[in-house]
Amino acid sequence: MLEIIIDRIKNSSHHRITFADYMDLVLYHPEQGYYSSGKVNIGSEGDFFTASSLGSDFGELLAEQFREMSEFLNNSDSFTLVEVGAGTGNLASDILNYLKQKHSNFYDQLNYIIIEESQALIKKQQDKLKGFDKITWTSWQDIPDNSITGCIFSNELIDAFPIHLVTKHNKQLKEIYVTWQDDQLKEKIEEISTTKLSDYFKLIDIDITKDNYPEDYRTEVNLKALGWLKLVSAKLKKGYLLTIDYGYSSAKYYHPQRYQGTLNCYHQHRHHHNPYVNLGQQDITAHVDFTALEKQGNLLGLETVGLTQQGLFLMALGLGDRLAELSNGNYSLPEILNRRDALHQLINPTGLGGFKVLIQSKKIKKNQPLKGLKENM
Ligand SMILES: C[S@@+](CC[C@H](N)C(=O)[O-])C[C@H]1O[C@@H](n2cnc3c(N)ncnc32)[C@H](O)[C@@H]1O
Repeated sequence: MLEIIIDRIKNSSHHRITFADYMDLVLYHPEQGYYSSGKVNIGSEGDFFTASSLGSDFGELLAEQFREMSEFLNNSDSFTLVEVGAGTGNLASDILNYLKQKHSNFYDQLNYIIIEESQALIKKQQDKLKGFDKITWTSWQDIPDNSITGCIFSNELIDAFPIHLVTKHNKQLKEIYVTWQDDQLKEKIEEISTTKLSDYFKLIDIDITKDNYPEDYRTEVNLKALGWLKLVSAKLKKGYLLTIDYGYSSAKYYHPQRYQGTLNCYHQHRHHHNPYVNLGQQDITAHVDFTALEKQGNLLGLETVGLTQQGLFLMALGLGDRLAELSNGNYSLPEILNRRDALHQLINPTGLGGFKVLIQSKKIKKNQPLKGLKENM
């Protein structure tokens, strides 16, 4: 991996690459990248875990939300669910198993599409999901514009997109690049690589060069998220876009006190802030700016239906009833303890429960209140 990075730096025009290019290599290089090579290890024993690692409740409650969306779409023929970045395939399996058992009419009218960047993960997903004949794996290029009626959704996808690192340097917006110097990967501050970075700050109405931001304030910009939103909204004919991830509003994300940004690395369940070690062996993420998603969405014809916290979203969809059911005498004590712990983790405001759920819609005439957004933020 290091040779690949050095090679890319040496062949670049100024012997430097943006951090976004660096992160793209270490996570998504076809042979050596953390996700593409299959070294990614999601689960309680892995580098990190996600909501669907905790059992089927998360997927089942989400499935309830999708079923309600299909009612609001009034579409008797078909409803397409597009899951982007499906990881181990656990979530798809939980959603489809539940709908097959509990809502067979909806299950019958459902098309399930997975869009996944990592070939290694596609193999894992196909293995896990071979019992379901309604799933297709495809790419955005093969989906015509304006063709999807249903819901496009993701869980912890956007935090895994390569981000640009920017900083306030001599009172100006500058970019942090990665170079190879003295036999080491080193950061270098230079002019921004694209005016899209300054446009981004205009979009969210934040100026990190102002006096209330300290010199050397550093943070991230997820330009890929905006491009992705453009692509995805063009594919949606009518329906919803549901995004779950950890993040903040722009005002909180780019608060002057958050002067070192939100970059995090995960390796063997340990969490640190050095992206220049364990190359291709560790996950690198940054929090998501939900205001940017909303504002960019508005420009693309997506209406914000609501933004809430995952804990509130899942409670509104019935997680509280599931907790109450645990005391109905049908479970053994170890089952009760394990399940209660998993359900509590899903709603814990300092953990998964504090994640954000953003629902945007396109061409829904009058947005009816969705069940999961009852406790809108
Ligand atoms: C952090 S994992 C989350 C996996 C899963 N959604 C979950 O909740 O367990 C990120 C997933 O997104 C995939 N991914 C990253 N960038 C992608 C892209 N541009 N398009 C599709 N999938 C992508 C990764 O390969 C991986 O499957």
